[in-house]
Amino acid sequence: MKICVIGTGYVGLVGAAIFSDWGNEVIGVDIDAEKIERIKKGEMPIYEPGLSEIVLKNISENRLTFTTSLSEGVKNSEIIFICVGTPQSETGDADLSAVWKVAEDIGKNLDGYKVIVTKSTVPVGTNEKVKKVVKENLTYHVDFDIVSNPEFLREGYSVEDMRNPDRTVIGSESERAFAVMRSLYEHLGKPIVDCDLKSAEMVKYASNAFLASKISFINEMAQICERSGADVSIVAKGMGLDNRIGPKFLNAGIGYGGSCFPKDVAALYKTSTDQAYDFKLLRGVMEVNEIQKSYFVSKITRFFGSNLSGKTIGALGLAFKENTDDIRDSVAVEIVKILRGLGAYIKVYDPQAMYNAKKVLGETSIKYCLDKYEVMEEADGLAILTEWKEFGNIDLEKVKLALRNPVIFDGRNILDKEKVESLGFTYFAVGKRTGGVELLDKRPSGTPGVILKNGS
Ligand SMILES: NC(=O)c1ccc[n+]([C@@H]2O[C@H](COP(=O)([O-])OP(=O)(O)OC[C@H]3O[C@@H](n4cnc5c(N)ncnc54)[C@H](O)[C@@H]3O)[C@@H](O)[C@H]2O)c1
Repeated sequence: MKICVIGTGYVGLVGAAIFSDWGNEVIGVDIDAEKIERIKKGEMPIYEPGLSEIVLKNISENRLTFTTSLSEGVKNSEIIFICVGTPQSETGDADLSAVWKVAEDIGKNLDGYKVIVTKSTVPVGTNEKVKKVVKENLTYHVDFDIVSNPEFLREGYSVEDMRNPDRTVIGSESERAFAVMRSLYEHLGKPIVDCDLKSAEMVKYASNAFLASKISFINEMAQICERSGADVSIVAKGMGLDNRIGPKFLNAGIGYGGSCFPKDVAALYKTSTDQAYDFKLLRGVMEVNEIQKSYFVSKITRFFGSNLSGKTIGALGLAFKENTDDIRDSVAVEIVKILRGLGAYIKVYDPQAMYNAKKVLGETSIKYCLDKYEVMEEADGLAILTEWKEFGNIDLEKVKLALRNPVIFDGRNILDKEKVESLGFTYFAVGKRTGGVELLDKRPSGTPGVILKNGS
């Protein structure tokens, strides 16, 4: 099949690579000329394990090409995938300007029957409008069909996820389009959900909102665990072994971030209010997520005092999660900004996200370190902000020698509490009581701010 993928970001580039690897002829299109030049030279503009090899292989076998010309992509394909960004707008809903622009340009260049597929995450009703925009901009009298095919990949695992999805959702009004889409995906042998456009659009938001709810749920459990003396990691393990619940997205921490959950949860909430419905649960999910960040910061300020001038904090992690260089809406970056705003000097290291983070955080009061151990040298305390595996394997003896105070704020619960405490550290995890630190009061749940007193 001949496929055009418009937008070569985290979704589009991986999609283009995998579609070509399945034997299709694929053209990737992007307005970012520098990005297209880099990809053509074999340089990946994003970090995604396994991606580079697949792109290079399929370029060399002439199944995968890249261009900045949307016209060239549209005219030489049977299926057109829209994979442009749909970030959060100031009003909380999805900014669809890139989708409308692409729909207009597809309309102008459509020269025969094609299936136009929206893979970008878009609110319910968007695909009906895409159809209208394409139709209004047609240059030739041609037929086309619209499909909603939301993407569920996880950054850091996207190659694996596209090759082996749990399910494929295909929303359309046309049997002809369903047949084309089935022939693209059915070789995977995975469930295909054929449905209407609106339900397909909604599956994506419902899935992300549900996963974000799981995270906020375990973060609220963490608050009760810390107050009562239970250990949230054990609670999550016990819950996750129940098949009805499952272990994923049950890690208590500093809250969800990234390029999808915050904007998708906000957009779904906006959809609900637009439909004159107050999605109460979702409001709580967002509120808990905000509290979780300030709660973590307040553990640091309770320990050192609220003015951090003269203090150096070593920070491990900047990416919004492990295995990616993506820092969009990263809670780690947000926390670094807050700590710096309180006067701290930050020494930071991330295996992949330093380049992107530097563009946002600049050079003031921050040192970008060459490795995880440099972060600790002459630092007053250590904060773990991203759950990279290599941070979980850190040599604690070395950490203790390097730090000025043996104190660790583990925002991802990746260290072993007993081991850390047995080495004499004061260890602030999430949802676990800190040894040597007593509870001062029991304010109502949801109260931001930590209620611990440094008793060491
Ligand atoms: N990143 C993820 O993990 C993920 C997972 C599932 C779904 N999604 C959704 O997929 C969509 C894309 O996300 P992403 O993370 O790949 O975004 P991204 O920002 O990494 O990539 C978007 C690309 O589109 C390009 N673009 C913008 N306007 C264009 C135009 N007019 N013509 C051609 N190219 C244009 C940009 O230059 C950019 O390269 C979003 O709707 C997102 O919500 C993302």
